Amino acid sequence: MALKTSPLHPLFGVEVHGSDLRGMTEDRFADLRALFEQHSALLFRNQKLDDADHIQLAECFGPIEDRNADSRNAGDPFRVPEVSNILSDGRTSDEMDLHTLNLKANMLWHSDSTFLPVPALTNILIARVVTETGGQTELASTRAAWSDMPETLKSRIRDRGFWHRYAHSRARISPELAKLDMFQKWPDQLWRAVWTNPVTGQEALYIASHAFAVEGMDESEGTALIDQLMSFVTQRRYVFSHTWNVGDVLIWDQRAVLHRATPWNYDEPRKLTSICTSATRADGLNAMRMGIQHT
Ligand code: OGA
Ligand code: MN
Repeated sequence: MALKTSPLHPLFGVEVHGSDLRGMTEDRFADLRALFEQHSALLFRNQKLDDADHIQLAECFGPIEDRNADSRNAGDPFRVPEVSNILSDGRTSDEMDLHTLNLKANMLWHSDSTFLPVPALTNILIARVVTETGGQTELASTRAAWSDMPETLKSRIRDRGFWHRYAHSRARISPELAKLDMFQKWPDQLWRAVWTNPVTGQEALYIASHAFAVEGMDESEGTALIDQLMSFVTQRRYVFSHTWNVGDVLIWDQRAVLHRATPWNYDEPRKLTSICTSATRADGLNAMRMGIQHT
């Protein structure tokens, strides 16, 4: 049975109606995966997923990303990551606290985990505690934007790659934040600037707040080009802004969509749970590797 959908935005994204995501199975997943390939972003409202359902859904997309595997004791289970300003004592983190500053780094347009040896295919966000004002999550279609981009600009980047580094996006918010060990764990990663979806054949610009250089281009030319491309693909006409309600599940294709949070009053608690899955060969990952080391 075909799923009932309605557009989120004229250029990308659909809301899927009447689908309960609990207890997801490979069988039921096939139709969702087809929508994901085609539309790049999926919204489901009024869902009742617990952490186990969240993990089960994520596993249908691919291997679950576990950035803290190295700091967990053997045998300890994976815990669903939270994007939250609520501290263990229930208070909210102060605006200039490093924890809040890290949340602010999410307000720079990015694709998740481009700084990892294997980047993310998707992020499945579930709203647990929402704010009265602000705190939207915005998505920008780098597929739609790339398709509109003038050839003069495309040709400057088409056969090139971007270098990505976690600490780079953090340093843009606070040099002190960038120094934390958790942002220094991985060597710089080089990814081709254009990701071709192997299912649909559609291309998208693959860029992020973590991108600090263009391979083979001098530093100032590279950063100017990164800024120019970022401005192009995040123009309002490519952006969908989602205002959260508890129970919303938002899923997007990191190969073809940038995302960011918008500010809120930091006294207000906000909590999303988030599971990223890693991109695989079937998602076109191998073609993204340029195979040279950054010097
Ligand atoms: C994330 C992220 C944005 C938000 O979870 O990767 O960037 O709106 N979240 O909190
Ligand atoms: Mn993110």
